[in-house]
Amino acid sequence: MSINYSERIPNNVDLSTNKTLQRALENWQPAFLNWWGEMGPEGTTHHDVYLRTAISVDPQGWAHFDHVKMPDYRWGIFLTPQEQGKKISFGDHKGEDVWQEVPGEYRSTLRRIIVTQGDTEPASVEQQRHLGMTCPSLYDLRNLFQVNVEEGRHLWAMVYLLHAHFGRDGREEGEALLERRSGDEDNPRILTAFNEKTPDWLSFFMFTFFTDRDGKYQLASLAESAFDPLSRTCKFMLTEEAHHLFVGEQGVGRAIQRTCEVMKELKTDDPVKLRAAGVIDLPTIQRYINFHHSVTSDLYGAEISSNAATYYTTGLKGRFEESKIDDDHKLDNNEYEVMDVAGDKILTRQVSALTALNERLRDDWVTDVQAGVDRWNRIPKKLGIDWVFTLPHKGFNRRIGMFAEVHVAPDGRLISEAEWTHQHKHWLPTEEDRLFVHSLMGRCIEPGKFAGWIAPPSRGINNQPVNFDYVRFN
Ligand SMILES: [Fe+2]
Ligand SMILES: [Fe+2]
Repeated sequence: MSINYSERIPNNVDLSTNKTLQRALENWQPAFLNWWGEMGPEGTTHHDVYLRTAISVDPQGWAHFDHVKMPDYRWGIFLTPQEQGKKISFGDHKGEDVWQEVPGEYRSTLRRIIVTQGDTEPASVEQQRHLGMTCPSLYDLRNLFQVNVEEGRHLWAMVYLLHAHFGRDGREEGEALLERRSGDEDNPRILTAFNEKTPDWLSFFMFTFFTDRDGKYQLASLAESAFDPLSRTCKFMLTEEAHHLFVGEQGVGRAIQRTCEVMKELKTDDPVKLRAAGVIDLPTIQRYINFHHSVTSDLYGAEISSNAATYYTTGLKGRFEESKIDDDHKLDNNEYEVMDVAGDKILTRQVSALTALNERLRDDWVTDVQAGVDRWNRIPKKLGIDWVFTLPHKGFNRRIGMFAEVHVAPDGRLISEAEWTHQHKHWLPTEEDRLFVHSLMGRCIEPGKFAGWIAPPSRGINNQPVNFDYVRFN
């Protein structure tokens, strides 16, 4: 499954055999490049960046690394190979052949799912647009740009599906994906978390840890889809996503590492002294965790959802690792535990597993997030510092679902409006926290140098040294 780079649009889908589709995508290409120029990483037109590019979709050796001029990155269309005789693995159509074309009755639903996923990709590029100006190192700058170009490619992946399978409607959606803008009042991105700002590098690392991980779970459940082109597209996107999660986890981890080192040096845990020493105190990092965890949690939607049930029974969207789950893959008679607010108490109750699929996916994500937080917790422990990061309760700071109308403390207590107003500054980043973090964001671009608030990584990218010139400014 090698990729054809000799065409205007690199692809492994034999694009040249479908002239109409090829022409439609070649028409969209300049619009994409205009969008990239306008909304992609600021001031990067002349940068040579050490980027990986897909050369095949094989799990082994798909990536090629080299310095690439940013606007010359070869965005293209890569699907994992078609599996002969593949069957639908869940829902009412379980056991039937997977679909190569979209069944008429699911057309608008499937289009909506693809557009919603597709919209997050350019949104995150827009959110991260200015970060290059305040990078803590060349290594980090390169990682930011790698994430950005791949999110751009994920947009290509979704636009390909829209063009190839949804006719004129699909082409119009493809245009609209380049017209919405993150945070724009009149024409915002579809999902709330993708209209938030990513104003500093701690936010960026948190975003790639929490929100790209939501991406992983959404893509994994779409990779189970009965609509085979969507499944195969998402499988390849997942291989790219893994690096984004690494960037986030390692970035936050290095900030924690640096803070802990300074805590040891100065023999203090006083946030005031630590801030004066130019590192981010651990309570502030905890507040960032609380914020990003809760905002990203909302992306899974309401705990009980008839839409989620329909997506499943119709075969459009499966569960995380559907085929590894040992049940009937229809869920007609299964139950799942969800939380519920009853008066002044938070209870759990059993509901139909079909209607609880959003919650199940959120739970899978929380488990994965918790494992990452546990790895962060090894850092202070190793340095003998008594500190443990925790995830806030599911109901904390939620805008969607059954906790939207109530206030929940990070420890899970239902609290009054008054207590929330009084306390939330201890739980969520304050304006002052954000200004402080912002004040640390100086640009550090000498090879091998790192800003004072973050430790260097233990190794470089693709076996290059940490002080490699990952980005060349021309
Ligand atoms: Fe993505
Ligand atoms: Fe991503």
